[in-house]
Amino acid sequence: MARQKIIIDTDPGQDDALAILLALASPELEVLGICAVAGNVPLAWTQKNALKICELAGKTGVPVYAGASRPLVRDLVTAEHVHGRTGLDGPDLPEPSMALQAQHAVDFIIDTIRLEPAGEVTLCTLGPLTNVALALQRAPDIAARIQQIVLMGGGFSEGGNITPAAEFNIYVDPHAAQVVFASGIPLVVMPLDVTHQVLTTRQRVAAIGALGTPVARAVVELLEFFERYDEQKYGSDGGPLHDPCVIAWLLQPALFQGRHCNVSIECSSELTMGMTVVDWWHVTERPANAMVMRTVDADGFFALLTARLKTL
Ligand code: BDR
Ligand code: CA
Repeated sequence: MARQKIIIDTDPGQDDALAILLALASPELEVLGICAVAGNVPLAWTQKNALKICELAGKTGVPVYAGASRPLVRDLVTAEHVHGRTGLDGPDLPEPSMALQAQHAVDFIIDTIRLEPAGEVTLCTLGPLTNVALALQRAPDIAARIQQIVLMGGGFSEGGNITPAAEFNIYVDPHAAQVVFASGIPLVVMPLDVTHQVLTTRQRVAAIGALGTPVARAVVELLEFFERYDEQKYGSDGGPLHDPCVIAWLLQPALFQGRHCNVSIECSSELTMGMTVVDWWHVTERPANAMVMRTVDADGFFALLTARLKTL
């Protein structure tokens, strides 16, 4: 069976790291490249973190590209309060020996979508949508050739995690999100409503630790650092493993349920900047532009993740 071709656009981030590991561990997927973008921490860290994760996985042949260092319009907002100073606080991962590709991530996205057969490449976005929006603005012809975009971002009934109304990835670059949601490209959205259901409980982290491999040990250290923020703030058992939901959907879509509806992005009001306005009940005439997920089989998700990590 042909492997699903994907490009991962990411701002690692511990949960991004888990998503990348899940993708690199999955034979159904062919990772054509990893694009770094500024988000959780500035680009200098996210690009280095992407390299570190490829090396941790032993997949040094995967090309990593540096992309946008700031959002389209607004100033960069980062999330060191969640991810630590480096974005990948937790384990002591070695300095990467892999080098970044010389090409800019936006050019890589454009070239790849033009070169690969139309409808065969899926974009998996785990951070602010800046790189993808820049590619669409510079090369509008690629929109019709992109198979779909599976993205972590937004929230419906969960509200926001960076402001009361907005989720971090959309909030950081709402103008980029607006470009993507208006692009006509098929979208699959993993909002906070779903990602808050996949918690790294003590039992689930212990199951990963029991794998006993160097990758599993690093993952446990990543998760133990990452989950402290949500545990302290919300009193939950573990933290929400947002970004791996994107990859898990490609591998086992039946784990998730959602609805096709319209999502529009608020870019005017300072109060609700970056809010994803989800027309779940179809109360407007706005055409559906996204498959918005709402529920997930969390135990099935962790069973998949743990089984795949075992192979690295
Ligand atoms: C998203 O924001 C980042 O902090 C995480 O990596 C995830 O992509 C969750 O709101
Ligand atoms: Ca992320």
